[in-house]
Amino acid sequence: MNLKLDRRLFISSLGGAAAVSLMPDEAKADALEDAMSQALDDALADDTPKKFPTAAEVEAQIETRASRRGVGNLFVGRGANVKILSKMPDKPTLLDFFNQRFSGTANHCLQSANKAMKSEMTDEVIFACLCHDLVHALIKVDHGWWGAQMFEPYVSENVTFAIRYHQALRFYEDKEAGYEYPDLYRNMFGADYRPEKYIEDAYKMVRNHKKYILPRQVTVNDLYAFDPNVKVTIEPFIDIIGRQFKQPKEGLGYDNSPVAHMWRSMIRPDSPL
Ligand SMILES: [Fe+2]
Ligand SMILES: [Fe+2]
Repeated sequence: MNLKLDRRLFISSLGGAAAVSLMPDEAKADALEDAMSQALDDALADDTPKKFPTAAEVEAQIETRASRRGVGNLFVGRGANVKILSKMPDKPTLLDFFNQRFSGTANHCLQSANKAMKSEMTDEVIFACLCHDLVHALIKVDHGWWGAQMFEPYVSENVTFAIRYHQALRFYEDKEAGYEYPDLYRNMFGADYRPEKYIEDAYKMVRNHKKYILPRQVTVNDLYAFDPNVKVTIEPFIDIIGRQFKQPKEGLGYDNSPVAHMWRSMIRPDSPL
């Protein structure tokens, strides 16, 4: 199999040519290897015949890494050292987080929201797609529940429900609704992976819930291959954010909500304690 790496995308993923020039050779080599393994994952996800690891092989990889896969992407370097983050405004808005903290996750979410918008889904579903994985900046493991909690004080019950349960529903096909189990997960979790009981229980509950279609539509619009040819900006979604997100006047992180600390942790992830 021939893997092609887009040089321009690769360099920009590392913070641009200037940042790359400051990286030690060792870090450059690590970053390249990281990008190639990502490209390999993508290629494996696209090509047939397919060879997927077993769940045991996936587990055997754990001790080959310096960080755990569930850690948020603001807290680890992607094959390189972490970078100094830009200072956030005193009263940060959701848009400020998009611009300054969600860069590792925003493209995927924007592409999902774009797909939902093109298929004329409701405002709530488009907005849930826009937010569904943003919590990856903070933490990845159990991101449906973490993400729903992080948004709950500022969005409708329907949006919270859609974000919370897309995590469980993505493991279960619903071809009628347009959702097939993605090969990406056969690579990521192992071909013989079975979700844990709490995921299965959540799925069974949601499957019979009157709001089932909301998280299901998030999974339908979830894109499992990052498409480098589609560049979606935040602009088309500004009005929807205005309608769907109750921006606290004190700024996210400073509004004394039960989840303010989550937003503050993303404002200053370099704080040692
Ligand atoms: Fe997700
Ligand atoms: Fe996603």
